[in-house]
Amino acid sequence: MKNHIDEILLKKDLTKQDLVELLETDAKDRKKIYTLSAGIKKNYVGNKVYFRGLVELSNICSKDCYYCGIRKGNRSVDRYMVTEEEVLEAARFALDHGYGSMVLQSGERTDRKFVKMVTSLLDKIKTLSEGKLGITLSMGEQSEETYREWFEAGAHRYLIRIETSNRELYYKIHPRNSKHNYDTRLNALRMLRTIGYNVGTGVMIGLPFQTTSDLADDLLFFKELDIDMCGMGPYIEHEATPLYAFRHLLLPREERFELSLKMVALLRILMKDINIAATTAMQTLDKMGREKALKAGANVIMPNLTPVKYRDDYLLYEDKPCIDEEAEQCITCLEARIHLAGDEIGYGEWGDSKHFTKRNQQQP
Ligand code: 5AD
Ligand code: FES
Repeated sequence: MKNHIDEILLKKDLTKQDLVELLETDAKDRKKIYTLSAGIKKNYVGNKVYFRGLVELSNICSKDCYYCGIRKGNRSVDRYMVTEEEVLEAARFALDHGYGSMVLQSGERTDRKFVKMVTSLLDKIKTLSEGKLGITLSMGEQSEETYREWFEAGAHRYLIRIETSNRELYYKIHPRNSKHNYDTRLNALRMLRTIGYNVGTGVMIGLPFQTTSDLADDLLFFKELDIDMCGMGPYIEHEATPLYAFRHLLLPREERFELSLKMVALLRILMKDINIAATTAMQTLDKMGREKALKAGANVIMPNLTPVKYRDDYLLYEDKPCIDEEAEQCITCLEARIHLAGDEIGYGEWGDSKHFTKRNQQQP
């Protein structure tokens, strides 16, 4: 006998109400979602997982997001900047180990010195790898000019999470001032698309005050924006942040994890050929979190290549895993984990989002 959830899953287009019901499924019914999303992943993007070697360039940040451990207002963080040679070393490592791409991520800074430093790094990585390494940037809100400068220097993907598509909730988790403006963020996503980047965004799941209706809207927001990539994961509290005061409102960790997994699976069902990351935050709440995310529909993993001596200082949230492991150890562990999830690794490939490639083929 088919139940109501089976019927929803047979529908071609899921409505907001359908998504809310699916997000609220219990342990028995949620397996059905994962079975469907796993099948869609296999058919549309295959079972290859792409590696993006992540370098957390700097924890110097001019913003004060209420959830983030490296916010400007957190005076107990030692601020660092990775050296150029260390980044190039990570690039060489990525190349030698058959990673198709790197991600450079940083706290938000818009001063000219920083912008120029990133441009020069892009040039050097491109030269060093003879154009073989794809480069994703995750450097927050910048001017259109800066986005263009970095695009011309060789970055071709950009990640900037909307964090939540609900404007009111956005202002509950960010200070309400010109530095933290919902429309600026939305506009950044639009600019990046116009310039020609593969555009990625994402949200945090299980935030205080967030409802399943908000999360259903987030999924529809991704679809409406026609994004190429997505990285999302559970919100994890950090003691030295203002949002910590609302921790009594949070779902228990296990439920927060399952909700995040459902978001990954539902996004795969909604947007069949985009790239979806199995994020580190998923692994923080569940030891097998990334493998479970891969099974439920994710196809990208970002092994951390930040030199170990800095990792303690890039704690966006508590209990961040893998802060002691050298990259070499991480890889052996990751390879095993990916095979465990029944996937293969796409060595030496950029692994751009199929969604992006298709959209650009359609346009003259
Ligand atoms: N819990 C989970 N994710 C977080 N991020 C920042 N702080 C936290 C937290 N406490 C995420 C944000 C940001 C990305 C770099 O890290 O979504 O965009
Ligand atoms: Fe750095 Fe949010 S605290 S961008």
